[in-house]
Amino acid sequence: MVSVILSENATTQTKYKYGLELKENPVGEFSADKSQALVKVQAAALNHRDVWILKGMYPGIKVGSVLGSDAVGYVIKKSDHNDDTIHIGQRVLLNPGSGWVSDERGPEQTFGILGLLPWAGTLTEEPVWMDMEELVACPTHLSNAEAAALPLAGLTAYRALFTKGLVKKDEHVLITGIGGGVALCALQFAVAAGAHVYVTSSSATKIEKAIALGAKGGVNYKDDDFIRELKKLLGKNLLSAVIDGAGGPLYGVYPKVMRTGGIIVNYGQTASVKGVTYSMSHVLKNIDIRGSTMGSRTEFKEMVKFVEENKIKPVVSRVWDGLNAKALDEAIATMSNSEQFGKLVIQISDPSTSPKL
Ligand SMILES: NC(=O)c1ccc[n+]([C@@H]2O[C@H](COP(=O)([O-])OP(=O)(O)OC[C@H]3O[C@@H](n4cnc5c(N)ncnc54)[C@H](OP(=O)(O)O)[C@@H]3O)[C@@H](O)[C@H]2O)c1
Repeated sequence: MVSVILSENATTQTKYKYGLELKENPVGEFSADKSQALVKVQAAALNHRDVWILKGMYPGIKVGSVLGSDAVGYVIKKSDHNDDTIHIGQRVLLNPGSGWVSDERGPEQTFGILGLLPWAGTLTEEPVWMDMEELVACPTHLSNAEAAALPLAGLTAYRALFTKGLVKKDEHVLITGIGGGVALCALQFAVAAGAHVYVTSSSATKIEKAIALGAKGGVNYKDDDFIRELKKLLGKNLLSAVIDGAGGPLYGVYPKVMRTGGIIVNYGQTASVKGVTYSMSHVLKNIDIRGSTMGSRTEFKEMVKFVEENKIKPVVSRVWDGLNAKALDEAIATMSNSEQFGKLVIQISDPSTSPKL
């Protein structure tokens, strides 16, 4: 049984600072004083974070880590502690974060993310020890691939939209870089909440697909006429929120299409890590720029409930069968080149070997 391990002596992805090795990494013992469950991963998804790690552009990188922060799996063993909500054989989603309980402002204590030591990673054929409190029963309307696509992107989108962006029914919201995993979850959640959603993308085809998912329309963020096109699309409407994972120079022009007191939520800086513009035009319109990172355990549970109630199915761009070098190479190249529309998923266990629930 192999795991995907971050390495300096790579056999795959050698064009980056770090590479990946597929090798055995036997599961450790569980801690008897904690309430833990052993989870067999059925499917795992990639995040842009994995590419940043390979490039050496992420804090806390540790060679030897098993990569991967997203997974759906089933419980094959649990410690003796009583926890009625999780039982053996149950299909569960893994909260990608660890140690952030409920404070809306940010983690109360050390916050860890699956996929970098000392936390486990999900790109593995080995079962993974998880704290029981970081597991949530998986909604039954999701396939394994859809379920694996949900945790990190869904949590980030949920907090960015609702906790930080305060997006509500009938408000107008812009979601940038709609091909991305987080952006697509944000689109689906905002539409389900009754907001009017506009998107940006480098691709007309992706904008069309977003419209099919409920967006009112979209604009190419590479277009020189970007802000004029966006104004045309909005008509008399003004944006209450911009939900953005790209950063870059467009922050300077967003106030032109925002209402007073509008909120720009930034959860990532794919376009440029050099920061964003905050000028007097933001100040005069009382516009906030708010940073947002993943979310708390409470928000994770709320997000899964929201997905269940609204029967939302995360958009999966492609699924690979089996954890092997070819699948990893293709998935990481797809993500680096922004070719995807939605999440990139690797099916790890043969679904026919999973227990009937
Ligand atoms: N803070 C957090 O907790 C957190 C959580 C998750 C992700 N992130 C960060 O958020 C970003 C997105 O993550 P992801 O996993 O959703 O990535 P992803 O699936 O790889 O999507 C990235 C998307 O970014 C868009 N993009 C690229 N350049 C852009 C630009 N100049 N302007 C607007 N959009 C641009 C592209 O959209 P088109 O294909 O439509 O052009 C691309 O599909 C990454 O930087 C990631 O590290 C942060």
